[in-house]
Amino acid sequence: MKNKKIDWDNLGFNAHETKSMYRANYTPENKWQIEGLVPYGNISLSPASTVLNYGQGIFEGTKAYQTSKERVVCFRLKDNAKRFRASSERMCIAPLPEGLFEKAVQEVVKDNLEFLPKKDQGSLYVRPIAYGEGPMLGVKASDYFTFLIYVTPVGSYFNSGLKRLNTIITDKYHRVATKSVGSAKAVGNYAGTLLPYKEITDQGYDEIIFLNSSNENIIDEARSANIFVLKDNVLKTPPLHGSILPGITRDSVIKVAKNIFNLKVYEDDVTVEELMAGDEVFFTGTAAVIAPAGSINYKNKITEFDIDFNDSMTKLIREKIIDIQHENIEDPFGWVIPLS
Ligand SMILES: Cc1ncc(COP(=O)(O)O)c(C=O)c1O
Repeated sequence: MKNKKIDWDNLGFNAHETKSMYRANYTPENKWQIEGLVPYGNISLSPASTVLNYGQGIFEGTKAYQTSKERVVCFRLKDNAKRFRASSERMCIAPLPEGLFEKAVQEVVKDNLEFLPKKDQGSLYVRPIAYGEGPMLGVKASDYFTFLIYVTPVGSYFNSGLKRLNTIITDKYHRVATKSVGSAKAVGNYAGTLLPYKEITDQGYDEIIFLNSSNENIIDEARSANIFVLKDNVLKTPPLHGSILPGITRDSVIKVAKNIFNLKVYEDDVTVEELMAGDEVFFTGTAAVIAPAGSINYKNKITEFDIDFNDSMTKLIREKIIDIQHENIEDPFGWVIPLS
């Protein structure tokens, strides 16, 4: 049932209808009950569900790749499972039984292999979600939950491909408050970025950088990507202090930079000045892997990064991670998990 409408050579970051999705349901009496693979399609929901009314919902994002070894692999799936569990706990969603997340991702990927792009076209994006079903009128955690996974073929996330991103640091909005739910992949964290993103794209920028809400001298991250700055071959990224998402690509970059490129890497506060004075700045996330910044605007002061991407450390780190994900080189970290 290959979807004829999919333009395989120009996959963006869009939700395409696929064959199936995975579903499990939680009730207080029966705990998690596995429904397994169900046809891809709409879901029904109480109008009083806690996800619709109070944002009691979380998600994950990971990818399956066709590799040089003519097999399909997932990347660091255990880390996504761990983060999903941490997000569940923060959002009062019943945690999944151990191992279910990984097993379910593998099942839904296997059942949708016809939607996996060829190696040079992209990958299969995997989106696990969990949410409170309610119904609940008061602001309280639901006792009923749904766990769903759907997949979709994707190319590159930023529709500009590997164009260097023109970015702006906002002093008008924060992404999250420092003691709120910034380290969880909670749906509400993204709702708040929609208007800031609309405003900056209307002005011609590609990405927005948020400052820390307790200390506006330091930066947090972008809407859905962590941020790194390289200066004199030292790499720096904000620490996991609670208001940024602990990105799996972020962690991969830290390990590749330290162990393969012998760079010094610091997880420490990054000031606006440090960011603006960097030799290279880049964003990390599952969707784009690594996207280089071309410029940063802060209060109308603009830094342009002139370095040729082909000569950059950003490119070296990016390609090393992509080579590991696609099994073009041996994986020294044990990150690549073949479908079982
Ligand atoms: C807020 C936020 N920061 C960072 C990231 C990057 O995380 P990862 O590298 O695990 O995709 C994401 C992407 O999911 C995100 O939503």
